[in-house]
Amino acid sequence: MIKSFGKKTKIAVFISGRGSNLKNLINHSKKKNSKFQIDLIISNKKNAKGLIFAKKNNINFKIFSFIKLLEEEVKILDILKKKKIKIICLAGFMKILSKNFIKKFNGKILNIHPSLLPKYKGLNTHDRVLNNNDKYSGCTVHLVTGKLDSGKIILQKKVKVFNHDTSKTLEKRILKHEYLIYPKALNLIIS
Ligand code: GRF
Repeated sequence: MIKSFGKKTKIAVFISGRGSNLKNLINHSKKKNSKFQIDLIISNKKNAKGLIFAKKNNINFKIFSFIKLLEEEVKILDILKKKKIKIICLAGFMKILSKNFIKKFNGKILNIHPSLLPKYKGLNTHDRVLNNNDKYSGCTVHLVTGKLDSGKIILQKKVKVFNHDTSKTLEKRILKHEYLIYPKALNLIIS
């Protein structure tokens, strides 16, 4: 639980690409009953499409390549501290954070993953679900630990897979549920 002391909790969102979850979180943060506000966006790609939502909404954003990982993480931790960021949300962020970084933000980094974890950790989840003829897939919001896609599950939504699904149609259907559970999970961990 993260204490909010009656104010909206400051969060940072880390992205690498499209940023549709970021867009959705920004929209939710503007609602009166939302417990969080987005004060910082970090991208490892300067051309990430999602940065448009930072610009449109006047949210501070920074680019770090995460190539010199440890050095850059020190700088990021400093910015997070200065900005009083309490929670980090990974949203389509394609880099692996160091164990040291995760430890410093222990229990305060969330990720959204497009599968019913612990099934299908890693990439290309929808293709693997279809190849295995699974009847259900879904999405999961979980805490980030040093092990890929393995931390405590905060919220999960099961989504039906249809015979005619392609990875595109399945992705689209699951994304709609991602947009519902990510802000909900955030509001759940803030007291
Ligand atoms: C989402 O499916 C999310 O679950 C996964 O990466 C995708 C990011 O999409 N981690 P977007 O950048 O939020 O549109």
